[in-house]
Amino acid sequence: MNVLLIGGGGREHSLAWKLAQSPLLETLYCAPGNAGIAETATVVSLDVGDHAAVAAFCKESGVGLVVVGPEAPLVAGLADDLEAQGIAVFGSSKAASQLEGSKGFTKDLCAECSIPTGAYGRFTDANAAKAYAAEQQLPIVIKADGLAAGKGVVIATTAPETDSAIDACFEGAFGTAGAEVVIEEYLTGEEASFFALVDGTTALPLATAQDHKRVGDGDTGPNTGGMGAYSPAPVMTEALSTRVMDEIIRPTVAAMAARGMPFKGVLYAGLMIEDGAPKLIEYNVRFGDPEAQVLMMRLKSDLLPALAATAQGTLGDIALEWHDEPALCVVMAAKGYPGSYQKGTEIARLEDAGADPDVEIFHAGTAREADSIVAAGGRVLGVTARGQTIAEAQSKAYAAVDTIDWPDGFSRRDIGWRAVGRAD
Ligand code: AMP
Ligand code: GLY
Repeated sequence: MNVLLIGGGGREHSLAWKLAQSPLLETLYCAPGNAGIAETATVVSLDVGDHAAVAAFCKESGVGLVVVGPEAPLVAGLADDLEAQGIAVFGSSKAASQLEGSKGFTKDLCAECSIPTGAYGRFTDANAAKAYAAEQQLPIVIKADGLAAGKGVVIATTAPETDSAIDACFEGAFGTAGAEVVIEEYLTGEEASFFALVDGTTALPLATAQDHKRVGDGDTGPNTGGMGAYSPAPVMTEALSTRVMDEIIRPTVAAMAARGMPFKGVLYAGLMIEDGAPKLIEYNVRFGDPEAQVLMMRLKSDLLPALAATAQGTLGDIALEWHDEPALCVVMAAKGYPGSYQKGTEIARLEDAGADPDVEIFHAGTAREADSIVAAGGRVLGVTARGQTIAEAQSKAYAAVDTIDWPDGFSRRDIGWRAVGRAD
């Protein structure tokens, strides 16, 4: 089968790496890709926003499955437009992508189906939002309803901070994403990520993971897309995973089907675990980045039939096997990230760093310039390792990080601290 993978980050490199191992794969195309993906896939220059052009490419190239990595093309309706032309897609429809594209939509769905989550209100008017917030406890969470590239969330600890976050949203700090504001109860506990493939009606749980969103050691400093991750998440016991499937994932899948917008693709639940009970923080309609990197390192089975079955509605036929060994990913970012950073700086010794068979170096923001690999984004590499224990995975990943010669990059030095501490 020929596959077209959409995206160009570390998540997509790990998906490309795993898909490339499938005996069912003929040619893997990727748009826009990156320098690492270019080593396993044929990178094509396609405007992903031009759905007709993507469909035409699929027909010309005999693409049997399109795998969409990021959320933006899904929210823009790429899956709908390709499926209308008879092209199979791993990824949700525009309507179903509201689970990520509208935080208010998801909160309403949770309320209607008694899915455990924090209390909330939805507002299109600043005064009403402020009046509601004033009656709630601090801290309180203020979110732009729509997609805001992970930046549309403020955890306010004082009333003036709350009001200014509400004003900023309505004044356009996040563009149209902030035309509606969701105000949420602040949840406490331990965060975990839970992933399930969903084919419209059947949900198949994948592995669990935890990521580190803050830029600095000790989980300090500004939020980022994710500075590292590991799988499994020790907090997610088998019993808790069963509860998440029963209380959160399956009711969501059933409610979406009942609304005539069946969810198809990967459902990523951001959870807060407190006193052994899960609550939903938010949904994403895609794999996490860098969570995908650790999931792909732990997946023993062939990924391609699972993604194809998800697209075709035959997930009931699929069973997946996982390596018991944990995996851990350390993100290397350009100095300055998540603020402004330089592009074009050279990265060397990648081959030496990846020599250990338990290590994979997934590229995110990289480009090739003549014989060199250069940084081309904020998050640049996802240095990922598997080990007998989480501590071994961590030390293998950092040994590779320390081999890479990139003076203009940095990483956190404590990825996995919580899991390593627990295993002691
Ligand atoms: P999001 O952009 O929705 O993923 O939120 C980013 C981060 O903000 C989450 O990973 C949580 O750490 C935090 N967060 C979001 N909503 C809440 C909430 N209701 N309570 C506590 N923390 C939250
Ligand atoms: N690592 C968090 C995310 O992908 O949203």
